[in-house]
Amino acid sequence: MENILTINYEDKPAYNIHFEPNYGKLAEAIHTIDMTNRRFMIITDSNVGNYYLKQMKEVLLPIAKSVESYIFPAGETSKNLDTVSLCYEKLIVAGFDRNDVLVALGGGVVGDLTGFVAATYLRGVRFIQVPTSLLSMVDSSIGGKTGVDFKAYKNMVGAFHQPKLVYMNLATLFSLPDREYYSGFGELIKHGLIKDTTYYKWLKDHTEEIKNKTHEVIKEMVHRSCLIKKVVVEKDPKEQGERALLNYGHTIGHSVEKLKDLTLLHGECVSIGMAAASFLSMKRGYISLSSYEDILMTIQLFKQPIRVSGLSPEEVYEVTKLDKKMDSDKIKFILLQDIGCAVIDPTVSKDEMLEAIHSIME
Ligand code: GLY
Repeated sequence: MENILTINYEDKPAYNIHFEPNYGKLAEAIHTIDMTNRRFMIITDSNVGNYYLKQMKEVLLPIAKSVESYIFPAGETSKNLDTVSLCYEKLIVAGFDRNDVLVALGGGVVGDLTGFVAATYLRGVRFIQVPTSLLSMVDSSIGGKTGVDFKAYKNMVGAFHQPKLVYMNLATLFSLPDREYYSGFGELIKHGLIKDTTYYKWLKDHTEEIKNKTHEVIKEMVHRSCLIKKVVVEKDPKEQGERALLNYGHTIGHSVEKLKDLTLLHGECVSIGMAAASFLSMKRGYISLSSYEDILMTIQLFKQPIRVSGLSPEEVYEVTKLDKKMDSDKIKFILLQDIGCAVIDPTVSKDEMLEAIHSIME
């Protein structure tokens, strides 16, 4: 497996993803993209900051004009415009200008929020993604979707803004709590299901090494997942079409996430949402009963839920409808034509949705 994967934007190389076992090559990677001797602002959260902020400062100081940091309380509840505003204040006070660089050190919340600050501060400054969770490595750090939640609406305010570099220290996966680590499999399994049967099978065949976090296997797993995401976002960077396939499991998953008041992790909700979408795909006759059962088994193999308790199908349906009304009056559902081949389907009826939601009720 290569240590570097290049992501193109509008047919030109835009940024590299580095897969490394430590932060030893980060300074060199920054040097290569000609971003030394700038002010760096590391934005991180209270969990990740405890583990990696000191180390990150030590790596950046020799190549920087100065290194500042901003730490916000960990969790989705910080992903809002108030935190963005505090970041702007910090940047203004520290005199950051357009030549300076933001560093997103953390998981999905840190990456999305820092990216949004970078997209909007002074009409756009450069930023680097340093993802530390499995989910942010294989999904949110790639493709330039940035944003924050607004009131109860997830990712309602945002911008497309591509990072200049994505640097993954795969050893950070060892400091992740088990539940956080496995929640990344919501997105990993999704990548196999929507685009790559071989990868889906590979995941099942390497369960033990994946559970033990064997470096070479983890590297291959993350690399292959990023490759799937690369192909999709390069073709459709602004989600005019095919990129919507990455929302497999997210339509119902988002409603579950909202109704459970963020007590379930994003990847867990995606897993539940994938179980519902796979049920629908089976009911439509696209995938067989045995494929459907195999998907449920695979989701569970990686300690992810396939059902949710304490909700009624009707309320899940209503929230889904409300959420997706922002798109158009039809819900754009992602279904599987087969394992490894997803399609966008705007014809899913209310009855079909309710039946699928019933299938995930505990
Ligand atoms: N997380 C879905 C996307 O990047 O489009």
